Amino acid sequence: MNIDPLGWLDERATARVSAGLRRELRAREARSAAIDLASNDYLGLSRHPEVVAAAVDAVRTWGTGSTGSRLVTGTTTAHEEFEAELAEFVGAEAGLVFATGYAANLGVVTALAGRGSLVVSDAGSHASLVDACRLSRARVEIAPHCDAEAVDRLLAERTEERALMLTDSVFSADGDLAPLTELHQVVRANGAVLIVDEAHGIGVRGDGGRGLVQEVGLAGLPDLIITATLSKALAAQGGAVLSSERVRAHLIDSARTFIFDTGLAPAAVGAARAALGLLRRDPEMGGRVLTRAAQIARIAGVPQPDSAVVSVVLGKAQVAYDAACACRERGLNVGCFRPPSVPEGTSRLRLTARADLTDAEMDSIATVLGEVLAQARAGDPQREPLATGASA
Ligand SMILES: Cc1ncc(COP(=O)(O)O)c(C=O)c1O
Repeated sequence: MNIDPLGWLDERATARVSAGLRRELRAREARSAAIDLASNDYLGLSRHPEVVAAAVDAVRTWGTGSTGSRLVTGTTTAHEEFEAELAEFVGAEAGLVFATGYAANLGVVTALAGRGSLVVSDAGSHASLVDACRLSRARVEIAPHCDAEAVDRLLAERTEERALMLTDSVFSADGDLAPLTELHQVVRANGAVLIVDEAHGIGVRGDGGRGLVQEVGLAGLPDLIITATLSKALAAQGGAVLSSERVRAHLIDSARTFIFDTGLAPAAVGAARAALGLLRRDPEMGGRVLTRAAQIARIAGVPQPDSAVVSVVLGKAQVAYDAACACRERGLNVGCFRPPSVPEGTSRLRLTARADLTDAEMDSIATVLGEVLAQARAGDPQREPLATGASA
């Protein structure tokens, strides 16, 4: 046989190029003059001297890797101390860290749902929750976005005894907020459990950055479980499930992404702990992110967001791609979300505010965004591409 078994990859690649959907990696320089509106380093702590020193110190103390699964050699006293600190911060009884936020979501959902149970997930839930649904083998229902009545109906009509409801607190693409109070009411009324992904909530929403669950007064409830990432406001890497002691014990016994994965690296634990310490010392950081996000939204001519995420929908994938490249060429790094990350026809620039943006940087952002968005929105199909170059 003389057939290239992977020849179809080239056809797919060609189709993606013509749809403006090809993705490319762009390696950053260690030091760059570009303004960052693309990362999730919301509090600007990933290079903070205390955070860096804590990561280095953790490496000197514990070594470069955790050396094993959490159940074998991968748990240090630093892991356990940090779990308790993070749980206390968000108002949960207990915490358990995972290698990533993705793994935390897969772990908790698959450990709590299976054949014979129902999982209801918001239509805007993060990809890691979507994959968790698929892996769980439970019956899965997707509820319309932020629709607590629909969730109520789906839970009430179920024949299964056990049910979970999954949602982001702050949705990653649009930056909008889930109706957590209403969701919890219907979840409780139907004897289910609510799992809230606070990846974009912690550090930004709630008192001193304690998250949206705390902000709406739901922290510490036995039928509500928080998942988190350490890779955004906490400037490190890793994930966590923040829950009751009972749930934590069950995850240690049965969450496959906990048991069959190497423990979180000591450097990540050290960095996240230091970032959490800084957030405790400066509880206004989250407020500064929201102020900057509101200013960026004004510049971009879009509604004020409730989070760090400013979403500027431009429509076609190619238009968003060109605009992102044009920003980059002018020294402004922005995110660009295209299908499948967002629905067809809603490709967008995704701008993330940071607490440490300076007034001078805001002036540059106003200039660059003003020019680029005016051109992108002019929508002249004959116009020259704004720029060519790296993909978003
Ligand atoms: C809402 C949400 N949940 C989970 C994750 C996954 O977290 P991590 O990057 O730590 O795997 C992300 C990250 O990108 C996210 O935006």
